[in-house]
This record gives sequence, structure tokens and C-alpha cells, in this order.
Amino acid sequence: MIMEKLFNEEVMTLDTYIMVKLKEKTAQLSETLTKKNRSPISLSMGAPTANPPEVLIDKLKEYLTEDNIHQYSVTRGEPYYRQAVAQRMEERFGVKLDPNSEIYSLLGSKDGLANLIRFIINPHHNETEKEIILIPDPGYASYSQMVKCSGGLAYPIALTKENNYQPAMENVFEKLKSDGYDENKVKAIIINYPNNPLGVSASREYIQSVVDFCRKKDILLISDAAYCDIYFNEEEKPFSVLELPGAKEVTVELFTLSKPYAITGWRLGWICGNKDVLSRFGKAKSTIDNGIFRALQKACAYIMTSPEGDDYIRLANLSYKKKQSIFVKGMRELGWEIEDKDLPHTTFYMWLPIPRKYDSSFKFCEDLLEKSGIVVVPGDAFGEYGKGYFRVSFVCSDEKLQEVIDRMKADGFKY
Ligand SMILES: Cc1ncc(COP(=O)(O)O)c(C=O)c1O
Repeated sequence: MIMEKLFNEEVMTLDTYIMVKLKEKTAQLSETLTKKNRSPISLSMGAPTANPPEVLIDKLKEYLTEDNIHQYSVTRGEPYYRQAVAQRMEERFGVKLDPNSEIYSLLGSKDGLANLIRFIINPHHNETEKEIILIPDPGYASYSQMVKCSGGLAYPIALTKENNYQPAMENVFEKLKSDGYDENKVKAIIINYPNNPLGVSASREYIQSVVDFCRKKDILLISDAAYCDIYFNEEEKPFSVLELPGAKEVTVELFTLSKPYAITGWRLGWICGNKDVLSRFGKAKSTIDNGIFRALQKACAYIMTSPEGDDYIRLANLSYKKKQSIFVKGMRELGWEIEDKDLPHTTFYMWLPIPRKYDSSFKFCEDLLEKSGIVVVPGDAFGEYGKGYFRVSFVCSDEKLQEVIDRMKADGFKY
């Protein structure tokens, strides 16, 4: 069979997702690495390895034996799940939402992002005709692939130290025009604060300026709030874009339960905000899946609205802060110049330059894996502006994290 004829042109350009590739490569090398006392330690996936809250597991077990729990759910989510989300959004952010029209359940936020993007893009093969979605760069690796796969063009919003990782949208649009693109083709802007992979957040003033810009230009604002519950200081607690005046007119925001409760495999999240967008999104989405397993929705409805859930998040954040300290201390000993003022206050990521003797992030990450069994992600995977960097995700145990440092020292890695 001729694959080029079978699959569409956009899909033919896609490569396996970077995290999957890293997993496959690690599995291939595992035996050899283990033999030389370097069994793989993964600092690559943004997937907490701690156990989920005990009460969450107990609740799940309890609900598994309920009548009708194993049948199809509904795509938009069971009423008790949407009600719990509404309660959480109000208690956590002071954002009031109607569970019937302003909240829709997701099979993880990745599901929501991929489908929303393909629902809004009219696919084109010709570069000049493509509709555009602005994405953060460096940013979550899937954004660009999702836009590309939908027949759109992903244009980078460069996040740099110079623009304090909060570039004015007017400037981004000026650059887009000077690069020869038509601003009228921009359909949506994706923002992600706290940011993966940088670990930076944005001010309310900045986000308000983005909201106002989207209102002026009639563009959809997609806020990916995946890391809103991973933070180290109460004063810098991440906020919801929907808290801001006028935001609901143009914004949808995506949340995930994967990270705060260490349940990446359960696949639960939600999208909320503008009801007209959600109504159309919901119609399309109802044709392709049947929602989340009811027992999971019920258990998560409990954890989102219980004090045990908040305690779990608080303790998890304390442990990430400790892991960050262990890692930073070690990397400083290895010569990395990390200033206190540059330490992330959100997410469990660290974004660092590759050692001076390397000129390729891929080569450095490959060497680190092959010599020391340590898996990190090359910065290029997060976009053009990720060149020369790598991302570390400190979700393993403190002991393993210390072992990473010890192995790097023993194997001659330094900045
Ligand atoms: C920025 C960002 N958005 C979305 C996701 C997807 O998370 P999930 O599909 O588990 O909700 C991730 C996962 O790493 C992420 O980093």
C-alpha cells in the first residue's frame, strides 16, 4: 500500500512524539545500562511518580461496585463531575461557572487541545493559505504537532529573558506580518502559564493585555493551565485567566487532574469558559468519544472538593521544592551558574543550558543517556527558541535525583 496516498500530507510529516521516542530509546538501552550500573533514571516525562492520594484510591474502589458505574458516560461529563469542577473553580479562583454550559469534561487536557485545534482550523496544504495558531516557544511539544496535523500553521510566540517571557502581542503580530504572514489568518493564541518547560509565570497585567488584545482582534484565547496547582509560594499562587475582566468573551481554559493528584494514567481534565465556543466544541466532541469512566469521574469529583485533595497538593509542592533544591545544589557543584532569582517558583521543571563543550542539545542528551543512563529532554523539542537547552523534570525520588548528580560527577559531565 502506498502510504503517501493513504495518509494525509500533514500526517505524513509527523514524527513519533519526543517523549515516546525517549521511552523507546531508553528501553532499548536498558539492559546494557543496567549491566554497567547505570540503570535508567527518567527526568524526562512531566509525570509525577508519587502515589496518588490514598483517599482517591479508596473512593475509586468503593465506586467500582456501584450499579451502572461501568456503562458509557456522557462526553460532556457526569453532572457530579461538572458540579465539582464548578465548586473547585469558585473556591480556588473565585470564578463562577455554569456547570451546564461553561464546563466540559476532557480525557486529559491533551484530548481537549488536540480536538479544539482541529475543530477550529480549516485545513490547507498551501503554506500561504494556512490558518494560524500562535503557540509559546519554548512550549509544550504537542502544540506545534497538533496544529500541523490539523492543516494549520503554528507561529511561535518567542518567550525570552529579554521580554521577561511575556511578549506584548502587538510585537508578536508585527513580527508575524514582517515574516510575510497575514494577521487575518490568526484564529487563536495559546498561552501556558506556568510554562512548560521554562517554569515561569505571568503577571495579571500581562494576561489582561493579552485578553484585551484578543477581544480587540476577535481571536480565541486558549489558556493551558496544566500547572496551576504546582507552585512553591502562596503569594505567587497561579491564577485563572477567567478571573480577569472580559476574559469569558474570548477565552477557554484547560485544566488537568494528571499533575496535581499524580494520576497521569487516569486521563481526566476539563475545559471551561466561553459558552458559545464550548457549545460548538461539545457538539463536535460528542461524535467522537463517550467521556470518562464514571468511577474515575466520581472519585475525582470527591478529591477536587475535599480538604484531603488540597493537603495532598500542598505536600506534593513541598516535596517538589525540596527536589528542586537537591538538584540545583548538585548542578551548581557541576558548574552550572544558576542564580536564585532565576529559580522557577512553579512547575516541577528546570530549564538549563547544555554544557559549553556541546553545540547540540540532542547530542548532549544522547550522551547523558548512553553514558550515565539519565533521561532528559533536548530543548529543541520545545521549539526554535529551545536550542542549546535541556529540560529536567524532577518527579523521581530524592535519592534518585541525588544519584543523577553523583553519576554526572563520576562520568565527567560538567557545565
Ligand atoms: C503544558 C501541558 N499541557 C497539557 C499537558 C497534557 O496533560 P494531560 O493530557 O495529562 O492532561 C501537558 C502534559 O505534560 C503539559 O505539559
